Amino acid sequence: MANLPTPPMPLPQTSPVKILTRDWHLPECWTLENYLKGGGYQALPKALKMAPQAIVDEVVKGNLRGRGGAGFPTGMKWNFVRKETSFPKYLVVNADEGEPGTFKDRAILEWAPHMFVEGLIIGCFAIDCHVTYVYCRGEFRDGPVARLQTAIDEAYAKGWLGKNILGSGFDLEMHVVRGAGAYICGEETALLESLEGKKGYPRLKPPFPANAGGGLFKQPTAVNNVETLANMPAIIEKGGDWFSSVGCPKNGGTRLFAVSGHSKKTGVFEAPMGTTFTALLNDYCGGMRDGSTLKAIIPGGSSSAIMTAEEAEWMSDFDTLKTKKTMAGSGAVVFLDQSVNMAHALANVTRFYATESCGQCTPCREGTAWLSRLLDKLCRGEGEKKDVDNIHQIARQMEQKTICALADGAAMPVKSYIEKFRGDFDALVKG
Ligand SMILES: Cc1cc2nc3c(=O)[nH]c(=O)nc-3n(C[C@H](O)[C@H](O)[C@H](O)COP(=O)(O)O)c2cc1C
Repeated sequence: MANLPTPPMPLPQTSPVKILTRDWHLPECWTLENYLKGGGYQALPKALKMAPQAIVDEVVKGNLRGRGGAGFPTGMKWNFVRKETSFPKYLVVNADEGEPGTFKDRAILEWAPHMFVEGLIIGCFAIDCHVTYVYCRGEFRDGPVARLQTAIDEAYAKGWLGKNILGSGFDLEMHVVRGAGAYICGEETALLESLEGKKGYPRLKPPFPANAGGGLFKQPTAVNNVETLANMPAIIEKGGDWFSSVGCPKNGGTRLFAVSGHSKKTGVFEAPMGTTFTALLNDYCGGMRDGSTLKAIIPGGSSSAIMTAEEAEWMSDFDTLKTKKTMAGSGAVVFLDQSVNMAHALANVTRFYATESCGQCTPCREGTAWLSRLLDKLCRGEGEKKDVDNIHQIARQMEQKTICALADGAAMPVKSYIEKFRGDFDALVKG
């Protein structure tokens, strides 16, 4: 088990409810022994005695929204798969976590691997899946993947995986697959292509993965994020109504915020869905560093539209941020201070998308490359005034024109950074 981080960081936690980080204060919280001490694997026998549809009903009641980025209602997705009559059905886990600034799934795999494994078994039982794949990003290397594999091996040894789990008649095989390190393979259909051994190009939709013809090996497939599934033991133990009551309307439970930037504390913080950015910054992260004043907030990973300091009172749930024309995305929050020129920050973000565009769609391949070139030109002090307008215009032309959402995820920050911080761009124009 090379490259493992030493003990779990004692993370500052002020959340009134701890679901996912329940055991993280314990030394070696990832072990089976510690998971069992905290009540682990009590939800599984309970779930196996329930009707699979009753499990999905609890998930619907709990208002569990996918934590991978889109916030799609998990119960609704599972009902789509359940309604399909084609077998086999698959549950594929998206552990690609490629969005810059996002590091919360990695934390779950390293510090709560059994909570995730238990949640995944319950999810598979709910949609009648008997073979499941956990697709892990290539860069996770030995740390998270080794912890996950140990947890899976232990679950097999205890009879929680394999044939006739706990005498229920339910069989499940769980496999870990490692990607080669491509951001696009986090997009669910590119992930499925990659899992099938092909180049990670996103597929045209419909058919959607949940439907026959659109999923893994063309079979009905639920693709779910690691954090989404890790919530399942709590939903089964305490019920959907309880889970829903923890968050805010239509957004149940807590969220793991991966915070970086210029706040005093950075790291992974568990807070109820909907927690405002002001509360996240002040109550969880100890405010801004000495000498730092909040200038901007990246609310949900680098693809999300930027927020100004004045907008910090906004709630962080999927629906609120959608109405504000940004997104909760992957839960990666970056607090930026006055030292940051937003054009430089944007150039950095855009270089990532230009590198990671798979190149399948022309507006994305050409658009991200042009955006990156023009922003770098501006940052070198060689930009002209018309370049700023051109950059904005290119971003607008990339939206809604491609097979997957990578292009939109590259365009959204560009437009918002320029619209909200135009002065930073104009200040870099030559002369
Ligand atoms: C370019 C791109 C990259 C993505 N990367 C990830 C990722 O790394 N992890 C993830 O869970 N979802 C990612 N998504 C979202 C997935 O396509 C999908 O919506 C998600 O895995 C569904 O799981 P959930 O419903 O549990 O959130 C990405 C989407 C796009 C467009």
